[in-house]
Amino acid sequence: MSDNTETLANLGTEERRFAPSADFAANANLTAEAYEEAAADRLAFWEKQADRLSWETRWTQALDWSNPPFAKWFVGGKLNAAYNCVDRHVEDGAGDKVAFHWVGEPEDDTRDITYAQLKDEVCQAANALAELGVGTGDRVAIYLPMIPEAVVAMLACARLGAPHTVVFGGFSAEALSSRVLDCGAKVIITADGGYRRGAASALKPAVDEAVTKVEAEQPGLVEKVLVVRRTGQDVAWDESRDVWWHESVGNASTEHACEFFDAEHPLYVMYTSGTTGKPKGILHTTGGYLTGAAYTHWGIFDLKPNSDVYWCTADIGWVTGHSYMVYGPLANQATSVMYEGTPDSPHKGRWWEIVQKYGVTIFYTAPTAIRTFMKWGDEIPNKFDMSSLRLLGSVGEPINPEAYVWYRETIGGGRTPVVDTWWQTETGAIMISPLPGVTHAKPGSAMKAIPGIVADVVNDEGQSVPDGSGGYLVIREPWPSMLRTLWGDDERFKETYWSRWEGMYFAGDGAKKDVDGDVWVLGRVDDVMNVSGHRLSTTEIESALVSHPKVAEAAVVGATDEMTGQAVCAFVILRESAGDGGADIVQELRDHVAKEIGAIAKPRQIMIVPELPKTRSGKIMRRLLRDVAENREVGDVTTLADSTVMDLIKEGAATST
Ligand code: WT7
Repeated sequence: MSDNTETLANLGTEERRFAPSADFAANANLTAEAYEEAAADRLAFWEKQADRLSWETRWTQALDWSNPPFAKWFVGGKLNAAYNCVDRHVEDGAGDKVAFHWVGEPEDDTRDITYAQLKDEVCQAANALAELGVGTGDRVAIYLPMIPEAVVAMLACARLGAPHTVVFGGFSAEALSSRVLDCGAKVIITADGGYRRGAASALKPAVDEAVTKVEAEQPGLVEKVLVVRRTGQDVAWDESRDVWWHESVGNASTEHACEFFDAEHPLYVMYTSGTTGKPKGILHTTGGYLTGAAYTHWGIFDLKPNSDVYWCTADIGWVTGHSYMVYGPLANQATSVMYEGTPDSPHKGRWWEIVQKYGVTIFYTAPTAIRTFMKWGDEIPNKFDMSSLRLLGSVGEPINPEAYVWYRETIGGGRTPVVDTWWQTETGAIMISPLPGVTHAKPGSAMKAIPGIVADVVNDEGQSVPDGSGGYLVIREPWPSMLRTLWGDDERFKETYWSRWEGMYFAGDGAKKDVDGDVWVLGRVDDVMNVSGHRLSTTEIESALVSHPKVAEAAVVGATDEMTGQAVCAFVILRESAGDGGADIVQELRDHVAKEIGAIAKPRQIMIVPELPKTRSGKIMRRLLRDVAENREVGDVTTLADSTVMDLIKEGAATST
């Protein structure tokens, strides 16, 4: 790594620390002793976490790492994930407890689902899928809105040992067909449509189109399409292939004796984008994954299953929805909120209204959402009683200190610990995070690897960097919820994650250790710029920009520059209250960045724009901004949530630089 003392110095200026209250600390699930316990005997620590689950057959070996990087956890153990998430709670007498307070987007459309009801529906769906020919090992694609059937479908697959691949409902027919083909799914579960911003939005036509594409490549692969009736809109129907959920699942028996599978039996495949165009099918298996999801959900969110109401706002189509909406919370017998719609439908206070109504105590969302609410203004959340909240979480991208503090103060009333959780689709569960009852958290830092995880920051040679330096984020020891391979591509798995340095998992993120050894994740290494031989993080400059009172959101890219190698280009959305920012807004912001970080970080160019290009999961597509910054034809926009955004940005770029 080149010299980065200037940016490091900036990190040292964050003086704020947020400690848990004495009461929170005294009652916390995870205490500081867990670090010592895990350090003393990591495998024994993980075996203790695996005991959170019910095993039909106990494992004989915690970890088989004889053929790295292919790990086997809890060797010889047998369990069923659906049994662990549902049946055992009913057997323990918790059948009447609410598993989900489901909230549809239409305001009067709500449903409370108890564990007993969930068990019945999962059994019915398992019977129906078996009837449609789904057996152990067969793959099933799930393409559904945020409705209870999505959870039921996942658990029914798990119950049968049929790995599911959930495809986010906002993805195109093309994306769906490529995933169905890659994992060879024989059944697709979908709905006629879902509700989005007050209107019914169709899903089934995309499935029909995807199946046509799949047929052209691999005739006969997709045998059945199981369709939930959600909106009642008209759908095209293929009698030989399409089956209504309410007819097939609705008429099936609520009794289903589950089979127990090997701990390493595949549980699901989740596709995520890599550096090449082809999405990677991340494979998670049963015992280790469920152990990681349950342990972290209990420890990092401090779950008290009998008093908490937990809400993770992620869509089920992403890994966060898998680990922290379905598998973790259900394995822990939590009561959760599940919400179908968008945060602004029918009004911008919808989320806070839901928090108030259900008395949500634990709330987990993404920085991009937090910054959106900041932009909308404090008056909106301030209208609701959110005093039930006792813990907040953040995930998905680095959270800038301003957003962290706003979240803690305005949403958390200044009381709640905020856990900034770093992890990935690949890691299956949270890896680096404050412990809410222990850590004196620094806004903007994910702090330390959680007990059981051995993370480090290394230089180009793979050597651990000293405190106060930056490098690449790696994981040094295998962990139970790690991906096992890329579906059908062991070579790419080795190449992508394990080839850079011997024996280390390379996460693809840059990070720094501050003088206390706390980790600051800086974002993907592809987003790190090199300006005149200095390394600068896009995230850090964005954070500086967002700390300016007139700025709501910012995205920074490194554009090729003849003189300096790369130059910093910033795209900025102003707060509504700032109007057009004033005549000197660009100079004002450049000076502000210089003041916050140093002259080296001063953006060459700042463009005031109305929107930023985001994927449907809320990630800013810097590649497209780089195209604008480098005056190129804008590349492929098909994965944008709203593909017209780029036109707005180009117009803005033409008038504001
Ligand atoms: C990438 C993984 C983990 C579920 C959602 C995203 C970034 C994630 C943080 C965080 C800084 C973060 C990283 C990581 N990321 N959480 N707390 N601080 N960066 O899963 O799509 O697999 O993305 O998201 O760059 O590598 P994903």
